[in-house]
Amino acid sequence: MSAPEFNPFNPEFRAHPYPFYDALRTHEPVHTTEFGMVVLTRYDDVSTTLKSADFSRDIDKYSTQATTQARQRRREMQRERTKSILNLDPPDHTRLRRIVSKSFTPSAMERLRGRIQQLVDTVLDAAHERGSIELIDDLAFPVPFQVISDLLNMPTERADEMREWSQIITNSLESTATDEELAQSDAAVAQLVPYLTSIIEERRKNLGDDMLSSLITAEEAGDKMTTDELMAFLVLLYIAGHETTVNLIGNSTLALLRHPDQAALVHQHGLNSQAIDELLRFDGPVQHTVRIPLKPVRYEAHGNTFAIEPGTVVLTSLGAANHDPALFDAPHELRLDRPNSHRHMAFASGIHYCLGSALAKLEVEVAVGTLFQRFPNMNIVGTPSWRDRLTIRGVNQLQLSLS
Ligand code: HEM
Repeated sequence: MSAPEFNPFNPEFRAHPYPFYDALRTHEPVHTTEFGMVVLTRYDDVSTTLKSADFSRDIDKYSTQATTQARQRRREMQRERTKSILNLDPPDHTRLRRIVSKSFTPSAMERLRGRIQQLVDTVLDAAHERGSIELIDDLAFPVPFQVISDLLNMPTERADEMREWSQIITNSLESTATDEELAQSDAAVAQLVPYLTSIIEERRKNLGDDMLSSLITAEEAGDKMTTDELMAFLVLLYIAGHETTVNLIGNSTLALLRHPDQAALVHQHGLNSQAIDELLRFDGPVQHTVRIPLKPVRYEAHGNTFAIEPGTVVLTSLGAANHDPALFDAPHELRLDRPNSHRHMAFASGIHYCLGSALAKLEVEVAVGTLFQRFPNMNIVGTPSWRDRLTIRGVNQLQLSLS
């Protein structure tokens, strides 16, 4: 591929992004799209940008560009709304991150191991009897959903609706989202918020030892977390908990099935942290994120200097950084013993580094590790299908026979 382009409207790009990333990184590592967005594909540029205090995560507030009129309208509407931690800059980000980090320590997550194993075993026992499993519906979705529901002590009767809402909201994160999809997402938020509000109100009256109660108490202990901030955080947790981990379980399972030598290692030893990092690097669920420079910034490439103005949308391609041969030897090979796999960018970097990384890794360790340990002779039935999305990339259906 010679002519580099970053065009999420191209179905071929959405389906197979990695060759496009390679072309961009080689020929135009600082690439400007027809909408004026700057796309970074080198590991060092992505890493430096995400760690820099010269950039904001608040796109609605600072971006001077939009791909479509619908998106521009939406940005204006959202400018005044309460933002989730993900879209805030310091000092608000620092304050919220301090409150919520207490609930997400690795040791707090490790206490969930037994429960996750029990959930996975129940799913796999039933699959064993049937001799087959549809990986996404049977395992990848229900386990993380139940885990986040347990953590927050949320009712699960409306799991199907929650799943639908979170998928609709996730669709709106794509730069290709249509007017209709954006409207559907607003409608889903309008249903989700009252539902969560009623749960928060109920919990205020009956505090327990769950994460939602801790967050409410943290809110009530002072002027720290407002009700709107708590709501925005819950919506983010539900989307993060549903969409990303589901995709990591799906993408990792498919990657291993396509690399039988590596799958055999999982069968023998399970998954360790290094191997999970390699699966995150190889085909991570979050392919890119964006930042907005607050002051003029510069990048160097092929002897040229690129001056970027404040307000420009700078897209950091996490997927491209993860396949940069400058850091990762033979980047398109899956090597579970890769010595530097922990340097992947799948959880981003800097102040917004994924808060749920320990939980996500634990869920994959137990779900995918147990699957391959129990069923060494799995086979793909039919053709796996992918969600037609780029920002959040994931397998949609993966039917397996277990014999
Ligand atoms: C494989 C699974 C996951 C992946 C690949 C992932 C990826 C990411 C990435 C890339 C970011 C940073 C985005 C940016 O800088 O713009 C992020 C932030 C975040 N993630 Fe995750 N995530 C995963 C699972 C989870 C889970 C399970 C939770 C919680 C239950 C979670 C909660 C969050 C939160 C709260 C933030 C915002 C942190 C902040 O702004 O300070 N994530 N995640």
